[in-house]
Amino acid sequence: MDIGLIGTGRMGSAMGERLIDLGHHLTVWNRTAEKAKRLLERGATLASSPAGVARASEITLTILTDAKAIEAVYDGADGLLAGEVVGKLFVDMSTVAPETIRALSARVHAKKAALVECPVGGTVGPAREGKLLGMAGGSAADFARARPVLDQLCRRVDLLGPNGAGSAMKLAINLPLAVYWEALGEAVSLVRDAGIAPEKMLEILADSSGGTNALRNRAAKLAVALKEGPRPEVGFDIDGMRKDLRTMLEVGASMGLDLPVTAKTLECYDGAAQAGWGNKDASNLVVHRLAKAKAAG
Ligand SMILES: NC(=O)c1ccc[n+]([C@@H]2O[C@H](COP(=O)([O-])OP(=O)(O)OC[C@H]3O[C@@H](n4cnc5c(N)ncnc54)[C@H](OP(=O)(O)O)[C@@H]3O)[C@@H](O)[C@H]2O)c1
Repeated sequence: MDIGLIGTGRMGSAMGERLIDLGHHLTVWNRTAEKAKRLLERGATLASSPAGVARASEITLTILTDAKAIEAVYDGADGLLAGEVVGKLFVDMSTVAPETIRALSARVHAKKAALVECPVGGTVGPAREGKLLGMAGGSAADFARARPVLDQLCRRVDLLGPNGAGSAMKLAINLPLAVYWEALGEAVSLVRDAGIAPEKMLEILADSSGGTNALRNRAAKLAVALKEGPRPEVGFDIDGMRKDLRTMLEVGASMGLDLPVTAKTLECYDGAAQAGWGNKDASNLVVHRLAKAKAAG
């Protein structure tokens, strides 16, 4: 199948490799062309603009940082919606506010094209292996068109309602995850002086009601990071989590909700970013918190 892909960052590149492995042909575009190199070497075609991707593809996936990036890619002079797109299907997989998706949906529908949003849970490894958790929003008919491709990227994908429903669910799953890394950092700080090896500490935490899938997946790497400092591999970075926390607070405020834990958690991530940790994997918040605890002791 001819598939368009815009946004060849960490997630887009991993998803692109998966789709190429499954025999699809990709037409790609990325603001920084250099970052599309890996996919081009594997046979993808580079378009000169997002509009070029839309021309070449019946279905185009976008996975971009935030609302500003979506606007640039869809609405620019050479954007996805600049040309003739009647009947085309766009699938946005970025983590953004439901309102961003609803507004985009109106612009896409005004051009007689279709939009499904399908933000995902899971990081680069699951993207590469087709094991993401997809949370879709859109009409049943549009979702049915997107599903064959989404099924190849996701271990599970649910249509949760009209445009915006998938984005709301994605923010909801990231909230406890964001809080979790800070909570785990505080838990590890409490045993700072007990002389327990990081591996053992994390093994017991992972086996307890204080364990999560996120910890079980990362315990080995995190144990090394607690001993030696943050590792270079990044799935989802601290700056990305700050973006999601800000979005959760904006959405909450627009609904009249008080989210005190979310607000405090954002302060913790902001503190790590101010210390220069913004581009490190979000799980390193644990390492950052323990370093602070050690400095305090
Ligand atoms: N990483 C994860 O584990 C993970 C998991 C689930 C969901 N997500 C979500 O997936 C999305 C992408 O995440 P990622 O980790 O792949 O991020 P990333 O590696 O930083 O990639 C971001 C992509 O967005 C593009 N972009 C940013 N601003 C743009 C603009 N103004 N105009 C055009 N393109 C722009 C970047 O282009 P350049 O290369 O030119 O900067 C890049 O292709 C985010 O919404 C994130 O929250 C990430």
